[in-house]
Amino acid sequence: MITAKELRQKYIDFFKAKGHTPIPSASLMPENDPSVLFTTAGMHPLVPFLLGEKHPAGARLVNSQKCIRTGDIDEVGDKIHHTFFEMLGHWSLGDYFKEEAIKMSYEFLTNGLGLDKGRLAFTVFAGDDNAPVDEEAASVWRSLGIKKERIVYLPKADNWWEPSGSGGPCGPCTEMFYWSDKETSVPESFEPSDKRWVEIGNDVLMQYEKKGENNYILAHQKNIDNGTGLERNLAILNGFDDNYLIDLFWPIILKIEELSGKKYLIPVLSLEKRGGDEDDTPLSAVADTSPKLGEDVKRSMRIIADHLRAAVMIMGDDLGIAPSNVDQGYVVRKLIRRAIRHGRMIDIQENFTDKIAAVVIEIMGEAYPELERNRKFIMDNLVAEEEKFGKTLQEGLKVFHESIKTLKHESKNAVDGKSAFDLYQSYGFPLELTKELAKENGLEVDEVGFEEEFKKHQELSRTAAAGKFKGGLADHSEKVTAYHTATHLLNAALRQVLGEHVFQKGSNITEERLRFDFSHPEKMTAEQIKQVEDLVNEIIQKNVAVECAEMTAEEAKVRGAIGVFADKYGEKVKVYSVGGGDICFSKEICGGPHVERTGGMGHFRIIKEEASSAGVRRIKAVLE
Ligand code: ALA
Repeated sequence: MITAKELRQKYIDFFKAKGHTPIPSASLMPENDPSVLFTTAGMHPLVPFLLGEKHPAGARLVNSQKCIRTGDIDEVGDKIHHTFFEMLGHWSLGDYFKEEAIKMSYEFLTNGLGLDKGRLAFTVFAGDDNAPVDEEAASVWRSLGIKKERIVYLPKADNWWEPSGSGGPCGPCTEMFYWSDKETSVPESFEPSDKRWVEIGNDVLMQYEKKGENNYILAHQKNIDNGTGLERNLAILNGFDDNYLIDLFWPIILKIEELSGKKYLIPVLSLEKRGGDEDDTPLSAVADTSPKLGEDVKRSMRIIADHLRAAVMIMGDDLGIAPSNVDQGYVVRKLIRRAIRHGRMIDIQENFTDKIAAVVIEIMGEAYPELERNRKFIMDNLVAEEEKFGKTLQEGLKVFHESIKTLKHESKNAVDGKSAFDLYQSYGFPLELTKELAKENGLEVDEVGFEEEFKKHQELSRTAAAGKFKGGLADHSEKVTAYHTATHLLNAALRQVLGEHVFQKGSNITEERLRFDFSHPEKMTAEQIKQVEDLVNEIIQKNVAVECAEMTAEEAKVRGAIGVFADKYGEKVKVYSVGGGDICFSKEICGGPHVERTGGMGHFRIIKEEASSAGVRRIKAVLE
């Protein structure tokens, strides 16, 4: 049995011995990155460094990164898909490249993890109009003794990696697969579509930069971006065919069993398979010989475990987001509400999400200590959300079932947009929940109709969310750069006007505006807003220099730099100071980019000040 803690450590130690510096996981909420809602891969927070900026911790890095991907959310409920997952990753930032990277990965899989060489297979990029076939990668694999039957060439759809959003560092990848089926012998030839070959690692050989749709240029810095899924690898190493049996999930499943009075595994069979062991920790994958039996219950249990784990990780981040109707907050809301409904489906009648959260914090808290720091925020929000949704869920379900009776009577096969919108508006049913309910009843939902109703009511503007996908990951235009600096000025001004309890809780920048969340218990007065604006404009008008210095995090603190995310860059950090000496207005730890002088930034104006979540205010401001 290998635990998650052991595997994380094994990976970090292996690559540390190869000269990589361990860095902490970045936040799940991308900072100053308008292109995506969540951090989706380990490379994501490293984009500026993959594009050539010098990383304070060096050119070889390794970590375990918290990630959220919601693209596959409908698949969650099976044995392998998750919304939150941890990605073990290592990087070469312009240091070693393809040959060394592939050899290192192979050594890790075989010597590091002790995987049987005979069960491994690999893919390489087949080439297209933008980039040639990756013969080089294939020949490195062959030089390691891999038979050609175990190396498959795949097109861009499978073997090219680029970040979500419109661009960024990218390139062909070479993926590593493992034959997971213990019942059959390993086939001679590798067939990637056979699901028994499980992807266990990915080396992205970054030699390109995507500049826009179908527009790739050769990058001036070649990088390696490795991603190794923690949950999947743990399952394989333990011989499980179900990720929910690993120690990151199993205690959550046990809690759900206790709350629902239902069993995830069939007890008699599982005892037999475990050789009479009464311990609830699974020792090996427990085959369920009657897969139909309890399959719905299992699916619900997995959805609850996955979704509440993800919601806890988002809320428990130091940039924690509460459930709401916009952006990341809406994702948190969907995750919690879907989990609650599945809880009711398996007969958990009492409020239970905080009980599951307590287990999640116990499992994840050591690796991610921010969860403990933010425990109260997580619990308060869960309790409030379950209270709110619990009240309307039963009522909403009644309304839903009434409407499908009518639909069936009229031989219609889709829930109309108006009904779906009413369920959203009056009963708090996220569209995805209505879609899932409809699907269970063999129906679809008129999503276009829903959107139309939505727009009509202008209940919430989707424009903000849509705008998020417009900008590129490395959107460092002049305007965006000015907004980054304005964010520092705003942060400093708020601390001067409101007090030192003000800390940045999050920020988001687009070409059009900046958004800044900060800790403060009450609404700002008009006078305070004016004072903050005046202070920021004064510094802009003085046209002071913005200076950057590298130092250790400790030194930065001693020198009075602020930055709640002080530990995120590892040992060395960049400190940006606006104005030097006596007139130093702001000193903040940050990755940049920033203007060189404040003069040309424009006139700063706060357009909105509102509540974001409990104890957190949100400002939207523009430079005109
Ligand atoms: N960034 C690569 C991935 O997510 C490693 O698979």
